[in-house]
This record gives sequence, C-alpha cells and structure tokens, in this order.
Amino acid sequence: MISGYKFLETKTEQLSGIKMITIPTLKTTRLIIRPLNEKDIDFLFNHYNQEEISRYTLISFNSIDEVKAFLGQYTAKSDMRKFKEGIELRSTQQLIGTVTFLNWSKKDRCAEIGYDLSKEYWGKGFMYEALEVFIRFGFEVMNLNRIEATTNVRNERSRKVLTRLGFIQEGILRQKYRFRGKFSDEIIFSILREEWETRGIQGMQDKS
Ligand SMILES: CC(C)(COP(=O)(O)OP(=O)(O)OC[C@H]1O[C@@H](n2cnc3c(N)ncnc32)[C@H](O)[C@@H]1OP(=O)(O)O)[C@@H](O)C(=O)NCCC(=O)NCCS
Repeated sequence: MISGYKFLETKTEQLSGIKMITIPTLKTTRLIIRPLNEKDIDFLFNHYNQEEISRYTLISFNSIDEVKAFLGQYTAKSDMRKFKEGIELRSTQQLIGTVTFLNWSKKDRCAEIGYDLSKEYWGKGFMYEALEVFIRFGFEVMNLNRIEATTNVRNERSRKVLTRLGFIQEGILRQKYRFRGKFSDEIIFSILREEWETRGIQGMQDKS
C-alpha cells in the first residue's frame, strides 16, 4: 500500500499578474517526482530511443539538440499548458521515467497525463505510485476537475495502471496518431474529481 507521500513544494507564485503553479517536487515512499533539468538530457535521449518506450509514447530523438528543444517546451514558465517531471528512485537517486501534464485548460479545469518508465523497472508498482501522487497534485493544487489519458489499444500495461487508479474507459479514438508512417488506434480514459475523491485505495490493496 502506498503511504508517506507529501507535497514538498506546492507554492504558487505571481508572475506578470498571472497566478502560476511552480513545477512541484513530490515525494512518495520509494520515489521523488522532480522537475527535469539539463543534466537529464542524456537520460531522456536514451530513454525515448528505446523501442519499448517510443512505440507507445510516440517520442524519439535524432540528436541531443532535439531533446533540448523538446525539454524546453515542457519547462516554459509563461502560459504553462504542460509540464514534464522526472521520476527518481530514492534508493539510488537514478532517474527511471517521467510523468507529464499536457493540454491543461484552466478554463475547463481539464488536463491530460502522460507517463513512461524504463523497462527494467516495469512490474514493481512504480508508475502507480508516481501517478497516484501526481494526479493528487492535479486535483488538489492545479484544481482540475477532469484528467484524461490516451493509450494505444495494444498497450495492456498502460491500461492496467489507469484502471487501477480508477480511470474509466470512454471510447476508442480511431487512427488518432501517426508515428513512423503508421496510424494508431487509442483508447481514451478519464477520471473526474468526484470519482477520485470517493475511489478509496482498493486498486492496490491486494498488491501490498
Ligand atoms: C505503462 C507503464 C508505465 C506501466 O508500467 P508498470 O510497471 O506495468 O506499471 P505499475 O507501476 O502500475 O506496476 C504494476 C505491476 O507491478 C506489480 N507490483 C510489484 N510490486 C508492486 C508494489 N509494491 N506495488 C504495486 N504493484 C507492484 C503489480 O502487480 C503489477 O504487475 P502486473 O502488471 O503483472 O499485474 C510501462 O509499461 C511503460 O513505461 N511503457 C512504455 C511507455 C508507455 O506505454 N507509456 C504510456 C503511454 S500512454
């Protein structure tokens, strides 16, 4: 069972008259979710160029400069509609994956999540643990009402983590994305604030 997480840094700041949320550092029992920085560029290059990751994230890079440009999109401070964070293993201080909020609409109080973990860390509950606190941040600090996720129809691991977190399948987005010349069918999932608040923790109780 997951316990002991807390928001280390959740302050908001006033910039150019717009209330903005500082990209947070979040702590769980085994993980630290923290802003990415220049030192993480080599990790991101190697990570997204693994076939098991790029196949479903639809991200890959030809050069370090492409990674820098990519990271720049997720760390911009003005009109922040998306941000990406690193998942760090507390025991080794190694980066093992990322979590992302994107398409954040403050008007609709809605955003999408993305996530990926290096293959050697699959099957240990790390993504569930990371998303549990990241989604809490979304509802409690970003004040979201709806969080959505899309995942390839063949991505069984991703479907499982979303279902365990309480996400509901809404439908299939046919040929939604095109990557390396092929279209992919995606399942769209969502969870509403009221569902999150009443969901309990049965998703992981049988795993502890
Ligand atoms: C999607 C992805 C993050 C899922 O990773 P994962 O490790 O399977 O997910 P979780 O962290 O929820 O781990 C769950 C598994 O860990 C097991 N587990 C082991 N120890 C555990 C613990 N202490 N707590 C919870 N679960 C534990 C669970 O039983 C479960 O195993 P199962 O799948 O065999 O039932 C990973 O497959 C990935 O990065 N894929 C490539 C990128 C990708 O697809 N991203 C999503 C695009 S939409």
